[in-house]
Amino acid sequence: MNIIVAKDYAGFSEKAAQVVASQLTLKKNSVLGLATGSTPLGVYAKLIQWYKQGKLDFSSVSSVNLDEYVGLPRESDQSYYYYMNENFFKHINIDVSRTNLPNGLAADVEAECKAYDTKIKALGGIDLQLLGIGHTGHIGFNEPCEEFPKGTHRVTLDHKTIEANSRFFASEKDVPKQALTMGIQSIMSAKAVLLMANGEGKAEIMYKALCGPVTPKVPASVLQLHERLYVVGDEAALSVIKEKHPELIG
Ligand code: PGA
Repeated sequence: MNIIVAKDYAGFSEKAAQVVASQLTLKKNSVLGLATGSTPLGVYAKLIQWYKQGKLDFSSVSSVNLDEYVGLPRESDQSYYYYMNENFFKHINIDVSRTNLPNGLAADVEAECKAYDTKIKALGGIDLQLLGIGHTGHIGFNEPCEEFPKGTHRVTLDHKTIEANSRFFASEKDVPKQALTMGIQSIMSAKAVLLMANGEGKAEIMYKALCGPVTPKVPASVLQLHERLYVVGDEAALSVIKEKHPELIG
């Protein structure tokens, strides 16, 4: 596990973007596993900036997103499809036909989930998976449970997640109750993983995820078993780890 600490959100975004940029330097046609939420917004902004400066080329990149809400049309400004286009894809030279998100409106959810896993395999797997972390310890929308889920599946969101995400909606009751998410096996099969966290609110869960027991009750804890895990956080998000395990922070 490599833990990279930045002073603040700007530094955090730059360092996390550097991990993505390095991946593209090593492999032009990388398959990127992408994440949504507040955490990676600055990372996408930095990547867009470097693209506009001619430093990055996304023309042969493919992408698969972690998750999508069930029941929101793509045009909804709360869908992750909309988020990805608005915050990243439309600003860079990625071929949108090579970008993939689960379809939260699929009539046959099981078939959609299977097709998503088949798509990931057909792409040759994920080279670098970006992850935020939820207050519940979720990665993607894999909420705390009894057994690590394997492939893409439908989940019922934890009330803490609904509460946290209600900041993007008119009210808490507007937050979809379900989502489709890549499973833990799909995430762990990525060749490299970049876990990102910023802000004090993530400090305790980051400590549990990276220093506590590996358990499906803290889904992100499974990342301790990944051979190429890069953790990028700001000082606030890494403060509990620093206090209890300073040797990990360096
Ligand atoms: P956030 O969400 O980046 O909006 O904090 C992270 C997550 O829920 O995975």
